[in-house]
Amino acid sequence: MADRRLHLNLFIHGRGHHEAAWRHPNASPLPLTDPRYYIDLARKAEAACFDSVFLADWLAVADDISSAPRTWLEPLTTLAALAGATSRIGLIGTCSTTYTEPFNLARQFASLDHISNGRSGWNIVTTWLVSASDNFGGSGQLTHAERYERAEEYMRVVSGLWDGWADDAVIDDRAAGRYLREGAVRPSHHKGPHYQVAGPLNMPRGPQGRPVFVQAGSSETGRRFAARYAEAVFTAQMEKATAKEFYADLKGLAVEAGRERDQILILPGLSPVIGSTEAEAHRIARELSDLSDPEVGRRRLSGRFGGHDFSALPLDKPLSPEDFPDPATVQAARSRTEVIVGLVRREKPTLRQLLGYMAGARGHFTTAGSPEQIADLIENWFRDDAADGFNVMPPVLPWMLEVFIAEVVPLLRRRGLFRTEYEGNTLRDHYGLAGPGVRF
Ligand SMILES: Cc1cc2nc3c(=O)[nH]c(=O)nc-3n(C[C@H](O)[C@H](O)[C@H](O)COP(=O)(O)O)c2cc1C
Repeated sequence: MADRRLHLNLFIHGRGHHEAAWRHPNASPLPLTDPRYYIDLARKAEAACFDSVFLADWLAVADDISSAPRTWLEPLTTLAALAGATSRIGLIGTCSTTYTEPFNLARQFASLDHISNGRSGWNIVTTWLVSASDNFGGSGQLTHAERYERAEEYMRVVSGLWDGWADDAVIDDRAAGRYLREGAVRPSHHKGPHYQVAGPLNMPRGPQGRPVFVQAGSSETGRRFAARYAEAVFTAQMEKATAKEFYADLKGLAVEAGRERDQILILPGLSPVIGSTEAEAHRIARELSDLSDPEVGRRRLSGRFGGHDFSALPLDKPLSPEDFPDPATVQAARSRTEVIVGLVRREKPTLRQLLGYMAGARGHFTTAGSPEQIADLIENWFRDDAADGFNVMPPVLPWMLEVFIAEVVPLLRRRGLFRTEYEGNTLRDHYGLAGPGVRF
């Protein structure tokens, strides 16, 4: 086994990450509200020794729901169900700093960490989706900068709550009539510009102390935030060259922030269509593409740019960056818009081609190939400092996860890249991180 370990997270989304996955005959027959769907996927990923599974959350329905289903169940309650159905795999859930009171978030993740015996991870998001603000007071979306500024204070509040309990606070001494150790629980008395939280948390510290901090912002502000707090970073990269730049930049920023390079793992999204041969993989990719609707893609593109109207753009004319708002002005998913405009600048696709690519996995890296080709790609990115592992985003679930596990994972193991059994018990163990994360 090589010294550096490859990490694999399973991103569960809809019936797969391809926009048309839900229509594919090999997609799961179960409703997306059926917990057995998520349990089956988590157990499969655990049997293959994946580090973790991950559930996203957007806090509003998108305007394309009539023709593109989403993952419907709320992440933390679903992860609690997965905790009971699995024993080793990490459980990462999204929760928004903009729309969740920090006290609630702190107790929910402490609770999940207890329920899962130290397997919780928090995907820290500020929520880019504009329509989410209509569900929380309706006073409009905060700007990108305001959301991240609040998130900074938020991190101090929740960490203060988790750290307010010493690891050994509960002595539970029935004979002496003493439940807590004297002085082992501290209030936080936090009074800041955005939050006032007295504390202490109404729950002892979880086995990991804090959930593993995961983050997925890739804009300039998002990267600086990740460099300070994230222990694992999800990122959408459309090619290896930009993934390498991102990797070098973020590791550098983390070192500047006083952290060790290997204490922040970079996990780009990878959505592989796998066939027994390259030709078969391309046939499956075509099958998926034939099931896609460019108008669903057009609406989704508009959402990324905060509602910008793309309805007048013809489908078959080459695009130029001027067809898009400047990403620096976008208050929604800024870094994803940078990825999209970057691709347009480099490759000048037509709108139909761009939407076809985005349908694959919403701007994450997609590829079609044989198991050897996928394993080669993973090894190449891993060895060449483009990734510490991957956020695996199977285009169709559970089908392409099963193929990945049966055909690609054994190749990764044969090459000494991926574990054959779990060595630790917590998510932080699997990720090879020293716990419990960043101290403030
Ligand atoms: C793999 C991945 C998963 C994400 N999951 C969510 C999510 O569940 N909810 C959400 O609001 N944003 C999610 N995001 C968006 C990011 O949090 C972030 O807002 C976006 O990448 C834009 O980056 P920026 O904030 O630096 O502009 C995700 C991003 C990636 C790459």
